[in-house]
Amino acid sequence: MLSHNAKLEKEIKEYDSLTSYGNRHFSQPIPKFEIPEDGMPPEVAYRLIHDELNLDGNPSLNLASFVTTWMDDEADKLIAENNDKNFVDNDEYPQTAFIHRRIVNMLAKLFNAQEDSNFAGTCTIGSSEAIMLALIAHKWYWRENRKTKNVNALPNIVMGADVHVVWKKFAKYFDVELRMIPMKEDCYILTAEHLEDYIDENTIAVGVVIGTTFTGQIDEINEINDLLEKIKESKGWDIPIHVDAASGGFVIPFTDPDFKWDFRLSNVRSINVSGHKYGLVYPGVGWVIFRDAKYISEELIFNVNYLGGELPSFSLNFSKGSSMVLAQYYNLLRLGMKGYTNIMENLMQTSYYLLDKIEKTNVFDCLTEKLVLPVITIKLKDEFLDCTSVFEISEKLRQHGWIVPAYTLPSNAENIAVLRIVIKENFSRSMADILVRHINEIQKYCVLSLDKSKQQKHHKKPQINIY
Ligand SMILES: Cc1ncc(COP(=O)(O)O)c(C=O)c1O
Repeated sequence: MLSHNAKLEKEIKEYDSLTSYGNRHFSQPIPKFEIPEDGMPPEVAYRLIHDELNLDGNPSLNLASFVTTWMDDEADKLIAENNDKNFVDNDEYPQTAFIHRRIVNMLAKLFNAQEDSNFAGTCTIGSSEAIMLALIAHKWYWRENRKTKNVNALPNIVMGADVHVVWKKFAKYFDVELRMIPMKEDCYILTAEHLEDYIDENTIAVGVVIGTTFTGQIDEINEINDLLEKIKESKGWDIPIHVDAASGGFVIPFTDPDFKWDFRLSNVRSINVSGHKYGLVYPGVGWVIFRDAKYISEELIFNVNYLGGELPSFSLNFSKGSSMVLAQYYNLLRLGMKGYTNIMENLMQTSYYLLDKIEKTNVFDCLTEKLVLPVITIKLKDEFLDCTSVFEISEKLRQHGWIVPAYTLPSNAENIAVLRIVIKENFSRSMADILVRHINEIQKYCVLSLDKSKQQKHHKKPQINIY
């Protein structure tokens, strides 16, 4: 005979197993502050979390992020099959390590490393780790090769204000003086113009961006390379360029292969790229490639023996998943040069299409003369600044599900507020049409709700075209 309590427990168990939503966990608060005493059935835990995540934005409508939001089903399968492999366990998973090396070879070739060169590279968790590793290597190389007698001299790094925040982090975390060249009101890239004033014999590298975070533009890399060549000749300072090609590294080689921005330029010593941006892999993979392994001090390579075998490691973290590295290889095989080229060209076409529609609204100006990446940065025309702001438009677009960020540009151009739209492969032309329709509706609403007397103050009445 079961006791009353045991009977009740049995009844609860039976009831719990009927349906996830009939489960008692759905009538109780979800644990938030302490690990619950008892667990719960897997499907219930899944449902609780899955349903809560419906409150997140929709990745397909996320035009803020450069990071991939769609992959083939076969890639998803490969990722799921390899989620249990720690990338760092090279000895246990040697084939994964071979595949990693093959990708480094392919990227070095994509970035035009010379056939007979001793290039080197590694995967990272993203471009941030890749940039940190490259700059640490340049700091060590500078220290080991400097000619100065002043051993206490502080190393410095020179870059434009258009760099991603990770460059500032590097300077702070690794005690390097940050020399940042401000933007101008009408120029949002690093040019060679005043660069010479910022560099000296303790400059460990100049940072050049191929596809800036703020506007998707390209720094004046050829002119900067020429200037560094001249400085090498006249002063004997051998200052390398690290190219931050987080976004551009998987675009430019396919859309403009003749443009020299990579190892074809003499002073480019290292390049990073995000596999999870236009490399078209889900978040969690970046790459850094060095022109020559000699630029990575042996002191930065740590050998560990506790995983079986002798494993060299050059990374900031230790354990990480293998799946995204394998997914990168999947894309390289699946797409090939032609596949990447077709996708990047389509992205550029969609970007031009969208930009044309946006410009025809007569509400926005594009910040850049020409698009080099599938990234559109727009600001409100002056006559609309009293009616609304890009921040309001961004907020209202969010009500339709679109995620389009609004922000101000970095120093010396901070009075310019923009919207940035990053086009990714699963953003079709018809979605572009819908986005423009929503932008127009918002804009129209803002203008109509503007106080009439304010409107009369305008010399020119805002003219909106609806597409
Ligand atoms: C130019 C640039 N560099 C570096 C990064 C950082 O890349 P990750 O997010 O892969 O660490 C970004 C990210 O958007 C970027 O745009």
